[in-house]
Amino acid sequence: MDGRELNALVQDDRMHRRAFLDPAVFDAEMERVFGRLWIYVGHDSQVARPGDFLTTAIARQPVVLCRHRDGSVRVLFNRCGHRGALVVAEESGNAERFRCGYHGWTYHTDGTLAGLPLSDGYGPQVDLADPALGMLPVPQVATYKGFVFASLAPTSPSLEDFLGGVKTSIDEIVDRAPDGAVEIKGGCHRYVVHANWKFQIENLCDMYHPAFSHESTLRADGRQFERREGDAGAPVRGNDGRSLSFWDQTGMTAYTQGHSVQGPMPRAGEPDTEVYRRYRAALARRHGAANVDRVLTLTRHNTMIFPSVAIQSLNLHVRTITPVAVDKTEIRVYPLHLRGAPAEMSRELIRYLNLTHAAASFIQTDDVEMFERQQQGLRTQANDWVRYARGLGQERPDNEGGYRGAGTNELGMRAQHRAWLECMTAA
Ligand code: FES
Ligand SMILES: [Fe+2]
Repeated sequence: MDGRELNALVQDDRMHRRAFLDPAVFDAEMERVFGRLWIYVGHDSQVARPGDFLTTAIARQPVVLCRHRDGSVRVLFNRCGHRGALVVAEESGNAERFRCGYHGWTYHTDGTLAGLPLSDGYGPQVDLADPALGMLPVPQVATYKGFVFASLAPTSPSLEDFLGGVKTSIDEIVDRAPDGAVEIKGGCHRYVVHANWKFQIENLCDMYHPAFSHESTLRADGRQFERREGDAGAPVRGNDGRSLSFWDQTGMTAYTQGHSVQGPMPRAGEPDTEVYRRYRAALARRHGAANVDRVLTLTRHNTMIFPSVAIQSLNLHVRTITPVAVDKTEIRVYPLHLRGAPAEMSRELIRYLNLTHAAASFIQTDDVEMFERQQQGLRTQANDWVRYARGLGQERPDNEGGYRGAGTNELGMRAQHRAWLECMTAA
């Protein structure tokens, strides 16, 4: 697809439906967006011990995130150096070596060839030490406070430059951990959604929708998200329009890299429990008592790191967005635990995410239904354009390189589309 064709798909306030429907656009996205940017692959706590691994994909290419015996985190293409088979078929686990199921070639956890059966059948013209016979490393890997990203591109701006203003979202979460680190342990909620990947990334910082998409979970008094002790809930009663101003006031910031954050959320009441007092005491030991309130005040609720991962700070989880086809996307939701916090808080987080993000839950299932309805509706020839005009022209630069607007604005999506077009049309 040439630049002229691509430029025709994005205007300031709209994106052409072809961007969500056309397999040729999707192929170009895999090469130029997912194939060029830093893509989140996992958290280093998921591969805590040597030999730990998990499998995922970057731009449809299967990869393995693993911990090598020297302690380093590696990201390898999940492809056998012999005849190309996927080597690691499990979602996660621990292995001293990876063994291909086809002819038994084995690999060290840095991807180098460890051995092959009947190696004396290869003559002198075959160099078994050739790195190309190994599981090759993905060109770039970098970590920010435990969050591991990889890039298929040989060079790019540093991960920190790429993250820019959304580093603060990670910093704030890590500060809330009494031991100064977050971790992912156990499993995830996993969906395969029959919809384009962009619908999920647009939804993260869309505060226009909760009152309507999630209407069925509202309490009689119009408050939502009140399922935990001490949580005051958010007023989202919709049809009179007035309560939506709550979400407008939370605000939204978008960045040129395509990232966006929604927040701050007003500080909800804190649970008056023994567990929470223990948590505060642990934070006071780390940060000093005078700083605990500041540490517990989050300036962000939803963070979308374009194009592959979202972090929700209040209902603490990491959400990965993995495109499979133009109309098929895998989404995984991993609870994010605060190391050093009482174990009861971890259990409560899991219970809460079971309510809101499991495949048979209240909240995320509403969104997923909407993504699939968008995919269906856009097939009509009625209208070529998907609209994102809300708040257009009202965004204002902030002091940290972002643009700020009201919480129900569609400025996060507009930033995504600009970043998307820039990647798609770059040389
Ligand atoms: S394809 Fe892997 S050992 Fe043959
Ligand atoms: Fe939602």
